[in-house]
Amino acid sequence: MKQVAVVGGGLVGSGWAIVFARAGIPVRFFDANEDIRQTAPSCIRASLSDMREFGLIDDVDIVAQRIDVVDSLVDAVAAADYVQESVFERLDVKKAVCAEIGAAIRDDAVVGSSSSGIPASIFTEHAPRRSRFLIAHPVNPPHLVPLVELVPAPWTDPEIVPWLRAAMEQLGQVPIVVNREIEGFILNRLQGALLNEAWALFDAGLASVADIDRTIAHGLGLRWSFMGPFETIDLNAPGGVEDYAQRLGPLYHTIAEARRDPKPWSPEMIERVTAERRAELPKQDLRARSAWRDRRLMAFVSHKQHQPI
Ligand SMILES: NC(=O)c1ccc[n+]([C@@H]2O[C@H](COP(=O)([O-])OP(=O)(O)OC[C@H]3O[C@@H](n4cnc5c(N)ncnc54)[C@H](O)[C@@H]3O)[C@@H](O)[C@H]2O)c1
Repeated sequence: MKQVAVVGGGLVGSGWAIVFARAGIPVRFFDANEDIRQTAPSCIRASLSDMREFGLIDDVDIVAQRIDVVDSLVDAVAAADYVQESVFERLDVKKAVCAEIGAAIRDDAVVGSSSSGIPASIFTEHAPRRSRFLIAHPVNPPHLVPLVELVPAPWTDPEIVPWLRAAMEQLGQVPIVVNREIEGFILNRLQGALLNEAWALFDAGLASVADIDRTIAHGLGLRWSFMGPFETIDLNAPGGVEDYAQRLGPLYHTIAEARRDPKPWSPEMIERVTAERRAELPKQDLRARSAWRDRRLMAFVSHKQHQPI
């Protein structure tokens, strides 16, 4: 990657701009909303200053100067060899923006979409140069959480996935490849399983929102920050994963059987969860708490950089 474009500069697009710029790559940054174009540089600078404090970058100015905010999509993408699309997760918006991007890019450019769950084939079918598109789904914020899911559409040129995988590794991200399209990919299917269970347990009155959150923050989440569910269970029985499956497989099967009829998150349930969350964190404090989360992540990323894996 020598020249990158970021299209859509909200939460995720701004984070992507930092990922590319901190690796030394010039970024042309476009958002359709002029307010975002005006405010993004100072938001990005604030994140970079925090990163500097945690030793994650050396120089704020050098990184910030690589990000050039431009006034048109064509100007952003025309010379890019890689485009990261991060506009709203709405089908009509994704379809329109991919048509615009496809018409304006070089023939050999690659376009990764940050889509959280909609497969690329749903919104790139009629885009010009559709074989250059795929999903490159990050975790928020992408400059602090390195995982990226690469999901090709059936028509994505086969050389793109290995190229983008290597490029993401060079950027310091951790790419995984999803072999076939599936709604929600891997990450949000795993997250969805956990969230659906959390809502159901809350709805059944089994625990408070805060206690369900504590179960992850002070329980499962500690191990999950450096190992996945398969490795976790491999270490949780003396004879490894096979032993664990024999001991606890039937329990998990019974639990799964009991959830054959999933319920949507009802307005009434949402109201009750909201009431408990707002009692813990008033709405006006959401932004400050997100900045706190990012600083906690920075401390943790810095710690992980000095560990053996
Ligand atoms: N927020 C998350 O946790 C998260 C995580 C991973 C992936 N994503 C995905 O990343 C994408 C962006 O999400 P976000 O959370 O940054 O949303 P956001 O609302 O913060 O930002 C979206 C931005 O896209 C801009 N935009 C809309 N239409 C545009 C167009 N035609 N051209 C240029 N810019 C346009 C908007 O002005 C807005 O600033 C979505 O696909 C989302 O699903 C989000």
